[in-house]
Amino acid sequence: GNRTFTMIKPDAVENGHIGAILEKITAAGFKIVAMKYTQLSRRDAGEFYAIHKERPFFGELVEFMTRGPIVAAILEKDNAVDDFRALIGATNPAEAAEGTIRKLYAASIGENAVHGSDSDENAAIEGAFHFSGREVY
Ligand code: GTP
Ligand code: MG
Repeated sequence: GNRTFTMIKPDAVENGHIGAILEKITAAGFKIVAMKYTQLSRRDAGEFYAIHKERPFFGELVEFMTRGPIVAAILEKDNAVDDFRALIGATNPAEAAEGTIRKLYAASIGENAVHGSDSDENAAIEGAFHFSGREVY
């Protein structure tokens, strides 16, 4: 697939990293085809991360993702899902490769600066969760 979905999470927004992260994303060859600045409700966050509902960190995850604004975007590039996950690095920034967005801008496994879809199917679901057809160009 040629699209993925991302969020710049509340920690990275709070720390002033929106510009630097978007620069890394576009420098890596991703084209932004939809983007918005918004804040998730608890219901949004619970639905978005429903797959993690039974995990011990679910409450913390919803708390974190709703505590401040985020940037949501749909990105276009060949092999978008895999290439974007390589660009952001491992879930735990302590294990993320040098130069990756999480290595550079994330503090912990819970507060890890960015989201990237994990499959083409989820990229389409997550993009549609945040954007209507008229918001994608
Ligand atoms: P996303 O791109 O955000 O989906 O991250 P991921 O695909 O690298 O990881 P995963 O989908 O497994 O987990 C989703 C999110 O839950 C992570 O990005 C973290 O924000 C959070 N999370 C995962 N594991 C832990 C954990 O052990 N503790 C806490 N507090 N949060 C976690
Ligand atoms: Mg995930």
